[in-house]
Amino acid sequence: MATELIPPALPAPLLPVRTERLMLRAVLPSDGAAIGAYCASPEVTRYLPFGPLDAEGLRERMERMVAGTAPSVPGEMLSLAVEHEGVLVGDLMLRLAARHGPQDPPAIGELGWVFAPEYAGRGFATESARALVDLAFTHYPLHRLMAQLDPRNLPSARVCERLGMRHEAHTREDFAEQDGTWGDTAVYGLLRREWEARR
Ligand SMILES: CC(C)(COP(=O)(O)OP(=O)(O)OC[C@H]1O[C@@H](n2cnc3c(N)ncnc32)[C@H](O)[C@@H]1OP(=O)(O)O)[C@@H](O)C(=O)NCCC(=O)NCCS
Repeated sequence: MATELIPPALPAPLLPVRTERLMLRAVLPSDGAAIGAYCASPEVTRYLPFGPLDAEGLRERMERMVAGTAPSVPGEMLSLAVEHEGVLVGDLMLRLAARHGPQDPPAIGELGWVFAPEYAGRGFATESARALVDLAFTHYPLHRLMAQLDPRNLPSARVCERLGMRHEAHTREDFAEQDGTWGDTAVYGLLRREWEARR
């Protein structure tokens, strides 16, 4: 009988990560109130794959985020709470995706960010996401980082551009919107060698 070789699990990254103004740490069950407050806002979820969260939606999102501490295989994610002066201002995600071969660790990571509107316009998303990009390429053997967003989400596109990601594609009507229509997707990418060249 052929035995399937399972690649070794990747270690969890060392947290918290500190930047000039922010701390990136694991998400705790007690973060539910702060995350629930901004995720209940239609303004915040307008371009997210989910609508304003009710109690059940928040419970499911919190469960995934609290569990997101040590991604190892494609589909698993690292979730981070972003704190400024002790206040949770937003959250970040790194989802691991495709591997090169069946025994290889994941080689592509997808980034995501959601911030409370009252902390917008201060560079917090960019500053924390930049730290996550560094963590992603330092801790994981990734070849490529990418982000997918609604092309109308200009603040998010500007975060990608400030991170040095390249606008690689605009795909048409490939995303099932919450209102039953089809939406477009903008794809941004950053290769390891581009990140290294900029360090
Ligand atoms: C996407 C999102 C995180 C972007 O937030 P943001 O506040 O625009 O981004 P930043 O925190 O990086 O702030 C950047 C802005 O702060 C300004 N800024 C002010 N002070 C600054 C400082 N000290 N340092 C850096 N930037 C500063 C920048 O000029 C920039 O403004 P601009 O984009 O108008 O040029 C936010 O809009 C959001 O959470 N949206 C809802 C969720 C969402 O759509 N997520 C993405 C799904 S793909």
